[in-house]
Amino acid sequence: MSDVLVTQTGPVLEVRFNRPEKKNALTRAMYAAVVDAFQTADRDSSIRAVLLTGTGDTFTSGNDIRDFQTRAATNEETHDSPFLTALSSLTKPMVAAVNGPAIGVGTTMLAHADIVVAARSATFRMPFTSLGLVPEAGSSLLFPRLVGHQRASALLLLGDALDAETARDWGFVNQVVANEDLMAAARDVATRMAALPPAAMRMTKDLIKNGRDDVPGRIAEELVLFKQRLRSPEAAEAFQAFVEKRRPDFSQFS
Ligand code: COA
Repeated sequence: MSDVLVTQTGPVLEVRFNRPEKKNALTRAMYAAVVDAFQTADRDSSIRAVLLTGTGDTFTSGNDIRDFQTRAATNEETHDSPFLTALSSLTKPMVAAVNGPAIGVGTTMLAHADIVVAARSATFRMPFTSLGLVPEAGSSLLFPRLVGHQRASALLLLGDALDAETARDWGFVNQVVANEDLMAAARDVATRMAALPPAAMRMTKDLIKNGRDDVPGRIAEELVLFKQRLRSPEAAEAFQAFVEKRRPDFSQFS
């Protein structure tokens, strides 16, 4: 059985860390498999949303520590940088279903997800300093933005653990559900994302993640896209469906 399971159900690509005996610790082969899956998702127009989760009682315990040792001993390149590139540049919307502890990159990758649904058993921890390391995946930039400077410092300097409810209250988890309801809740979000107009979703995700930082600049950037979108086939279908009092059907668009 593979350490990463990739399955497509309708328009949703589900990517599952599947190494429960090692708490889904991520090896180089697993990163490579996830990169493949994300690249497929970006290429394949039949995939309209990605769902990321883990098997068993842990989302992922982060990078495999034995892999860290090998890398340190052999001075190898950091093999997870293609993963970070694929993760941070994924154009399809992504929902993460956090089924238990998310440690290290298990938490930092969530700052790149669009929606995070957590089981009550989820916990979040970035123990980089205690391992003699520093933050990765842009977390030293993204977490202060997400939760504020002092809270990010408690997470990244002290390596404090957060439970699911606190993570939701701090704003980096959207929804906390009973453990047994996790996959249904996450699939529901992914299915809703998949039914929306794909180009509008791509552009909106890109604005949220990469739009200009000054307000006049952002307004101008949005306006250019907004004018294009007014004339788009997706908008035409949405407007016509409204006039005809029917549900819009965006399935023909990619
Ligand atoms: N890398 C390599 N192996 C890992 C691992 C990791 N990040 N996390 C867990 N494992 C392995 C353990 O070594 C153990 O292997 P073994 O059965 O061959 O001894 C197995 O997974 C089960 O882990 P165990 O520690 O016995 O389970 P637990 O329920 O007591 O604790 C964790 C689970 C995740 C809390 C704990 O394993 C842990 O803290 N892992 C390290 C997390 C970490 O620091 N990650 C790096 C962040 S940068």
